[in-house]
Amino acid sequence: MTQTSPEAIVQEAQAAVAAAADLTALDALRVHYLGKKGVLTEQLKSLGSATPEERKTLGQALNVAKDAISSAIDARHGVLNLSAINARLESERVDVTLAPRHESVGRIHPVTQVIEEITAIFAAQGFSVKQGPEIEDDFHNFSALNIPPEHPARQMHDTFYLVGEEGQPKPVLRTHTSPVQIRTMVAQKPPLRIIAPGSTFRCDSDLTHTPMFHQIEGLVIDKAIHMGHLKGCIIDFVKAFFGVDDVPVRFRSSFFPFTEPSAEVDIGCSREKGELKIGAGKDWLEIMGCGMVHPNVLRNCGIDPDEYQGFAFGLGVERMAMLKYGIPDLRTFFDADIRWLQHYGFAPLDIPALVSAYAK
Ligand code: DAH
Repeated sequence: MTQTSPEAIVQEAQAAVAAAADLTALDALRVHYLGKKGVLTEQLKSLGSATPEERKTLGQALNVAKDAISSAIDARHGVLNLSAINARLESERVDVTLAPRHESVGRIHPVTQVIEEITAIFAAQGFSVKQGPEIEDDFHNFSALNIPPEHPARQMHDTFYLVGEEGQPKPVLRTHTSPVQIRTMVAQKPPLRIIAPGSTFRCDSDLTHTPMFHQIEGLVIDKAIHMGHLKGCIIDFVKAFFGVDDVPVRFRSSFFPFTEPSAEVDIGCSREKGELKIGAGKDWLEIMGCGMVHPNVLRNCGIDPDEYQGFAFGLGVERMAMLKYGIPDLRTFFDADIRWLQHYGFAPLDIPALVSAYAK
């Protein structure tokens, strides 16, 4: 039986592999030489009829050949793969500096828009932006915030509990953005002036509640901070956000475990023929909770309440968007209805009027 020698096969294969123009051609060569019915496999099969001596030397030579061809193919694969990727990158090149062709198609969701507007206002007041995890532990979401175990906010109907470790309090989907206060105070020394926008979760779904919604938290910690600072900061914010200079703002006494004293902020409004107008009027609308940070909360974060005080506030983003832009139904925010977004969304390249006005 005359057979091409393993060395000759390797030479021929290496030349073919080097000449393979693309990954398809290379794959065909792999099948041709190493596949189930490939040249080398056929020769290995024919070893059965060889003498024991031949079987040993030829067998070894065939295995060496197999390795050599295999590594030639792998090396060529690397090269061809890289040039395939480069060719694709070249053909799909996007010039991100070009003006958009369909500027009117995409829309910014009102939640995103309002987060940006509020961030811009507080940035102008010297606040920086912090973020925290959406999966929180019991300490940050509850106990450090002076929310004792028996507090109703902890009950199953409010909080999404996750599976945790045996014997440990269960992790939760954060029920508010307040844990970012704790994370910030634990990680950084005062003075602090931060806002924390983000998603929050509660096991609640009806006309005015969705299981996922958005909040913005605010926190200021410094020496000699008092209620007056809180009021000034919030009143300035309200005027800038609603773009109404003489909007009445009322601080109504309230309760939150993490603030003392606590207040709810109402703004003046009027309703004429079903239309809501922000500004002086007969009615009040509640827009956020706030208060002076409770000494226990400061202590829980290693801050001495005799040296530092501060205030905090928390507001619901969807609610602010509904009030400012006259969006009547909360649940439509998350219906992913393109017609809704066309109507209530914002053009991507529009700079909110308020930002430029406030920056003056
Ligand atoms: N965490 C509160 C909530 O989700 C909102 C809140 C109220 C935040 C008062 C605060 C605050 O920082 O001072 O209902």
